[in-house]
Amino acid sequence: MCGIVGAVGIQNPREYAVEGLKMLEYRGYDSAGVGFLDGRIKLYKDVGSPSHLYDILPAKINSNVIIGHTRWATHGKPSKENSHPHISMYKKIALVHNGVIENFVELREFLTTRGYCFYSQTDTEVIANLLEYFYLESKDMLKAMVLLKEKLEGSYALAIVNEDYPDRLFMLKKASPLLVGKGKGFNLIASDASPMVNYTNEFVELDDFDYGYISKEEIVVFNKENKKVDKKTIIKSTESFSHDLKGYPHYMLKEIEEIDEVVKRLVSTYYQDDKYLFDKELIKDLKESDHIIFLGCGTSYHASLVGGRLFENFNNISTTKYIASEWAFHPTFPGEKPFVVLISQSGETADLIHCLKIIQEKDVHTLLITNTAGSTLSRGVTYTLLLHAGVEVSVASTKAYAAQVALLALLSGAIDDNKKVVDDLKDTIKVIEYIKNNFKERIQKIADVIKEHQNVFYLGRSFDYFLSLEASLKLKEISYIHSEAIPGGELKHGPIALISQGLPVIVFITDPLTASSMRGNIEEVKSRGANVFVISTKELSKESDSLVVDNYAYYLSGVAISSVAFYLAYYVSLKKGYNVDKPRNLAKSVTVE
Ligand code: M6R
Repeated sequence: MCGIVGAVGIQNPREYAVEGLKMLEYRGYDSAGVGFLDGRIKLYKDVGSPSHLYDILPAKINSNVIIGHTRWATHGKPSKENSHPHISMYKKIALVHNGVIENFVELREFLTTRGYCFYSQTDTEVIANLLEYFYLESKDMLKAMVLLKEKLEGSYALAIVNEDYPDRLFMLKKASPLLVGKGKGFNLIASDASPMVNYTNEFVELDDFDYGYISKEEIVVFNKENKKVDKKTIIKSTESFSHDLKGYPHYMLKEIEEIDEVVKRLVSTYYQDDKYLFDKELIKDLKESDHIIFLGCGTSYHASLVGGRLFENFNNISTTKYIASEWAFHPTFPGEKPFVVLISQSGETADLIHCLKIIQEKDVHTLLITNTAGSTLSRGVTYTLLLHAGVEVSVASTKAYAAQVALLALLSGAIDDNKKVVDDLKDTIKVIEYIKNNFKERIQKIADVIKEHQNVFYLGRSFDYFLSLEASLKLKEISYIHSEAIPGGELKHGPIALISQGLPVIVFITDPLTASSMRGNIEEVKSRGANVFVISTKELSKESDSLVVDNYAYYLSGVAISSVAFYLAYYVSLKKGYNVDKPRNLAKSVTVE
């Protein structure tokens, strides 16, 4: 995880670094720091989010070179000592790091026996010292970086300053993203384009094992074979990186309220003039495959459950759905001609990158469903489909989930040219709008009850169960309430033992096939004291239900009514006084395994 920024020759390095790190907070925010050269290396760092840096940094920074970091702790707790940048023992080199060094214990031993001391628990301090060790031996930074990359195992994107090079910022990367922004009279680097888009729209992407430096005038890159390479510049649209709250108090609320627009945009992107617009090769590949493996993490895994069920029920294709980190260590490729669908909002999730590396060793085609064009995963797959959901800033994924489900439904529709899916999706837009305009107060009342409890259950069957999983994840993620999603039919096989007086149980009933069984489940939990809140569709509703929406196609719960679950989690978190957009211990983009 972690986000890094760097600049050479920029007019206001302080602002670039701090504002840039604020844009990268989705990668972690437990501590932050900045380093620059002002005759000597100066470091300012502390626990807390990047905004806090304004309190500790000097009002003006007179430096040509600056680096900055926002952290999600892996090695060592969030503390000032463990915050980046880390400086080498002889204070020649300071660096910021995104990634994990797997052999840092051996490397630390190697350095300890050579007189090095360590002041943090991080793997990053080892890199700073090892680089200094090689630099003091070779007196040449580029040579030292070659020696460094030969020793490091694991993942790293590094931005490095060296006291002897006041006009250069060095960089090195493997398996963690690093982008160079090309300016006029200055150059920038960052983990993604967002910190740089106010300064440039021209970027250079670094590949694994690339290293080099930026100065005011130059971008110098060497590749894996240590050959100097001319990297081509890519132009990125700057619009998609806007973090404007547009008057909303939180990104999560703004993003929930965008769901209807997102679904409309998806439909019009992938279906026009009575035709699906997916790549024909992709549809052919999917049709020809005899087994589809879906991989995802967290929310994206929940979307994959929907996708898998759709492909099975509507397209008669057998599927398996896996949590990526589970599949990665015991991968299986059922069937004669398997195909893999990877789902990732960010396109940067390390567990999925691990899976993709395994898949790339086989002759298996892949599709990535993502919200992030040009992401690490999209560079390694056969096909990419974009969610076009607009940047999602809140750590809790909302509009991206609804978009993932909607896109999977469209794709399933396209395989057999089933146009009803499009009409069904259009119907959900009305339901989403209705919820937005009519239910927020009622949901807040439910939130008032939920916030007083330590445990909550969600119940559903089939597509409503998949939504329950997502609803439950959302609640625990931002309100720190323990919650579990249980398929209605499983209650009696154990979980019902947990039902006690007053326990809130939230139930989704939108599938005509399972509605009466779900009503039976409600009686079972009610008779054991549960406080039940039912969300149902008109045709399946009862007077006592808490929220009733218009009928929609049962398989689109994840699109039509996911906002109910998201609003509920949002209001509970808000009422408990938590940081809705930045829940503790989490990061938006999970770039470590
Ligand atoms: O970017 P990805 O979709 O690959 O991220 C996967 C999960 O880390 C993510 O969905 C996570 O579960 C969300 N924070 C949940 O709201």
